[in-house]
Amino acid sequence: MNKKIAVIGAGNVGATCAMYLAEANFADVVLVDIIEGTPQGKGLDLTQAGPVRGYNAMVKGTNKFSDIKGADIVIMTAGLPRKPGMSREDLVSMNADIVGSVAKNIKKYAPKSFVIVVSNPLDLMTFHMQKVTGFPKNRVLGQAGVLDSIRFRAFISMELGVAMTDTQAMVLGGHGDTMVPIPRYTTVAGVPIGELIPKDRINAIADRTRAGGGEIVKLLKTGSAYYAPAAASVDMCRAIFNDEKKVLPASAFLSGEYGIKDIYIGVPVILGAKGVEKILELKLSKGELSALQGSAKTYKLHLKDLGY
Ligand code: APR
Repeated sequence: MNKKIAVIGAGNVGATCAMYLAEANFADVVLVDIIEGTPQGKGLDLTQAGPVRGYNAMVKGTNKFSDIKGADIVIMTAGLPRKPGMSREDLVSMNADIVGSVAKNIKKYAPKSFVIVVSNPLDLMTFHMQKVTGFPKNRVLGQAGVLDSIRFRAFISMELGVAMTDTQAMVLGGHGDTMVPIPRYTTVAGVPIGELIPKDRINAIADRTRAGGGEIVKLLKTGSAYYAPAAASVDMCRAIFNDEKKVLPASAFLSGEYGIKDIYIGVPVILGAKGVEKILELKLSKGELSALQGSAKTYKLHLKDLGY
């Protein structure tokens, strides 16, 4: 294949990304981890599934960052996941060191790549990644809005018994307790959910979305979600590779949009061959805007913990 995607971290999220990427069959995959043998074993295993799964993508596992040379896209999943009782923000200091060291390697070996960050706390780690790589801001973005909105979509589909694919949802803000689901811009086959679901149920579904990651952490007990986060990341890769101009929420750097500056936070973007090609400014209600700005304020404070 003439395209290459590097996935950093061969744990739950990384290995699942590699699997979905191989199945998507649009690029070879390099899976990098510091644990000897794990990425190599998973890579070989995934490659050997190709003949029956119908893909030709090769998945190469490695402990050497130099193997990411020439990667078009890097998906950053290395880092610790949450355990029950932890917030994503509790991971800041541990994951910042990992993201910082990986960012230096990305800068060295894949200086022209797009970087999709999945490591948590997402919006802060995306900021850190951009700072350390020094890459243009359109080339560094965080995967969270897609995940949060597909969770919202799945819950709506479960509520109404309608096709998942007929649902559309918009979730803004940080990937944490302050995220801002926007029911007004959430539809089923174009019909606003306000016309289909009573208000108290919409509120309950929005709350469940906000706590969606925590619900899974509580069930798994030893780690956090990985199927939906990986699926969301691969969707973003596809949008970039195919120049889809896809409108989706992602953690993007704001320079005054929504009255917010110098921070990465979840907003709707147009994703295409140039990465984040545009940030869409929706007409938010006063309450929605202040929730989004409040979310940004929380992350601004956390950036200080990272020394920014
Ligand atoms: N370089 C490469 N890989 C690393 C590094 C590093 N510097 N540091 C840690 N890793 C690897 C670990 O060895 C492990 O295999 O990252 C992997 C993380 O895998 P898991 O522990 O299974 O965690 P996972 O569930 O995949 O979550 C990864 O994504 O969704 C977020 O909150 C989650 O921050 C977490 C990240």
